[in-house]
Amino acid sequence: MAKKVLVSGGAGYIGSHVTVELIAAGYEVIVADNMSNCDLTCFEGVKKITGRDDIPFYEIDCCDFGAVNKLFDEQNIDAVIHFAAFKAVGESVAQPIMYYRNNLVSFLNILEAAKNHGGCNILFSSSATVYGETENLPVTEQTPRLPSTSPYGNTKQMCEDILRDVVFATSGSDEPVKGISLRYFNPIGAHPSALIGELPRGVPNNLVPFITQTAIGKRECLSIFGNDYNTKDGTCLRDYIDVVDLAKAHVAAVSRMLDGKMKEDYEIFNIGTGKPLSVQELVDAFEKVNNLKLNYKIAPRRPGDVVAIWADTTLANEELGWKAERSIEETLASAWAWEKNLAEK
Ligand code: UFG
Repeated sequence: MAKKVLVSGGAGYIGSHVTVELIAAGYEVIVADNMSNCDLTCFEGVKKITGRDDIPFYEIDCCDFGAVNKLFDEQNIDAVIHFAAFKAVGESVAQPIMYYRNNLVSFLNILEAAKNHGGCNILFSSSATVYGETENLPVTEQTPRLPSTSPYGNTKQMCEDILRDVVFATSGSDEPVKGISLRYFNPIGAHPSALIGELPRGVPNNLVPFITQTAIGKRECLSIFGNDYNTKDGTCLRDYIDVVDLAKAHVAAVSRMLDGKMKEDYEIFNIGTGKPLSVQELVDAFEKVNNLKLNYKIAPRRPGDVVAIWADTTLANEELGWKAERSIEETLASAWAWEKNLAEK
């Protein structure tokens, strides 16, 4: 029988792509989402791509323990991929209580419900933000985490630690929790069908949605935040990972857990391309592949930005048998196709 995977936050940007890839790999998927940062666009897109109209959908808030526990009562969950969290760095600085409450409580509830139901496999959606402003580049999973610069980043570090502690405490018991944290670098792009993609609310904080919204005319001008950094062209370096590649990494990690292939009960993997790209290079590539001119200017540095970060992906390549495959050109073309598709809606 197909194993059941609960995707919390499954109607969102990464969650919807992961749902598609899990179904393609033969898993049964249950989606839970409180719709606080999305509408049904992506879930409808998932149904079209997979041809599945019967994906169980729970509109619940994972901060509601009763609702989460009931879901576990009703469904025999084999693994959880936990995305349900707030993710805007600036907002987290302004509203730390809201961020700590939401991101920590929802995860604690998932863990407790999983434990109550005889244990489970938990995949936590972490971030390269846990490395802070490190100078050891590229970062490996052993690179020490540095103090985070935002409550958002703190919640990622804390949830990683909570998962590790729960795994440790339940090891060898009747209710074992096993865990994997995936540390994503910069997820970008959209599904090749252009039926699912990123749907930022309000003014986008992240680079690629800002670029596509500028190209379509929703924003007047992109600001490149700083060109006086100590990098090859003065702009920041990041590791931009295609969202479909990222989704496939989740399938690899879930299969590793469900097939009993883990080497430790708690594992961490970097998920990136391993190749740094500058903001200017990304903007140039977007213009070239989509054959358009983008209105942009150089602006002051953005407070809180790290100069450069990219992944050493050796561990994910070797242990998960996964590697990033889509080219930056394909990814940027998909982001643009998605934006154009949205404009027609
Ligand atoms: N940038 C611009 N102009 C913009 C937006 C971004 O020049 O309008 C630049 C940023 O300065 C940075 C790069 O594009 O150099 C990437 O910025 P993003 O906001 O897209 O991504 P970040 O690297 O800041 O964010 C990522 C993750 C977050 C995580 C954060 C931690 O998306 O989830 O790293 O630093 F919290």
